[in-house]
Order: sequence, then C-alpha cells, then structure tokens
Amino acid sequence: MKCGIFDSGIGGLSVASSILKAKLFDEIIYYGDTARVPYGNKNESTIIRYSLEAMEFLKNFDIDFLVVACNTASATAVEELKKEASFPVVGVIEAGVKALENENKNSNILLIGTKRTVSSGKYEKLLKKKGFKNITSIATPLFVPLVEEGITDGKIVNDVFELYFKNIDREKIDIVILGCTHYPFLSHSLQKYFPNAKLIHSGQAIVELLKNEYNLTPKKSTSINLLASDDPEGLRIRAKEWLDIING
Ligand code: DGL
Repeated sequence: MKCGIFDSGIGGLSVASSILKAKLFDEIIYYGDTARVPYGNKNESTIIRYSLEAMEFLKNFDIDFLVVACNTASATAVEELKKEASFPVVGVIEAGVKALENENKNSNILLIGTKRTVSSGKYEKLLKKKGFKNITSIATPLFVPLVEEGITDGKIVNDVFELYFKNIDREKIDIVILGCTHYPFLSHSLQKYFPNAKLIHSGQAIVELLKNEYNLTPKKSTSINLLASDDPEGLRIRAKEWLDIING
C-alpha cells in the first residue's frame, strides 16, 4: 500500500514523520512543492490549482491514498481533490478537529495557522459544529520562514510570539492547534510560552484518524521517497537533519 503525502514545502515532514513511525503503509511518496512555497498567503484558486497539480504528480507513482499534509491546502482544496481522486484523500484539518473530540467543550482554544487557513474559517466551523465555543484564531505567517531557516527557539522566536500573542492571556489557553504543518518544529518554544496548553499536532492527529477510520494497521516496515519541485536535495538534507527519516 502506497501513500502520497504532499505539502507546500518541508513542513509536511512533521506529518510524514508521524505516519512513517506508525508504519501504516509499505511506501510513502512525499512531495514538497518547494518551488512555490508558501501557499499560505496565496489566493484560493491558486492553492486549488497547485494542490490538483501536486495530486496529478503523485498519481504517477500509483498511490493508493493521499494525505494532504498542509493545512492551507486542506482548508482550501480538499473537496476539489476528493472530487478528482480515485483513492481516499485525507486532510490534516479534519484529523486535527477529530483529535479534540473528547476535550471539554468550554476549553479555550487557540488556533494558529497561515493567513489563508485562518481566513478560510474551516477549523472554526468544524470546531463549532462539535460544540466548542471559545476559539481564538491568529494568523502567524512569520513562523514559516523561521522554521524554514531552522530558527525554532531563542530571542527571535520569543519576539515573534510577543508580536502575535500580546493580547492573549497565555496562562488561560487550554489547547493550541498547530494549524500549519511547519509549527510542530516550534512545539518546544510554544509549550513554554503556553504552559497550560495541550498542543495539537497534525501528524499525530492524522495517524489516529488513519487507524480509526481506515482500519490501517502497522506494516513490517515503511520506506520513504522524498521529492520536491525545487532543490530536492535540500529537502532530503532537512529530512535527515530533523527527522532522521531516510531509510537507507
Ligand atoms: N505547511 C503549510 C501549512 O500547513 C504552511 C506553509 C505555507 O504557507 O505554504 O499550511
């Protein structure tokens, strides 16, 4: 069984890493659209077009499953992808919302994501449907270049936190949804900043969804093939540095 995973760039490696560790597939084909990252500040029709093109590319590898490891694409293009696909397509937003199912409905939730993910209102809509009321959404686009540059803690990160979160009572936040697949790389700093919050990570959420809704069970091993629309070697180096996910 072969799973295609795509993201606008390297952030989806956080999702690929969780799926790889869970060994739910024999093979993963990861495609990062590094030539066109970021998606998060592009308009809807552009993101839909890019996402459909990414899926077309992955179809060349005879995938049986597609994981959209990009919140921006999940917020914008999942319906279009599902219409065009002959295999299951799963986005990280439905997984992230599902991960909150058993949480207290009065929890103070902070959603952080790209401009496009936040303005789509998709998380809020799905969370409200589940009965959650206290949701604050903040677009934090500067987190993406920080992660791409490998800057995940220290003064610059804290200054950017202050910039975005100055009006938030951080002790009172119960749940932070990492609504961008780059953000798990900032988990450590975010957890320090929001000491009482549970962080929701798209990768872990999607593994749970794949196990529970598609009855996927662990294979003996999973191999991964890393591809990118620009500088594939750069993606492989990052993957090796950060996640140690290259087999062989
Ligand atoms: N990885 C993307 C996401 O999850 C963010 C990066 C981008 O803006 O393309 O939304």
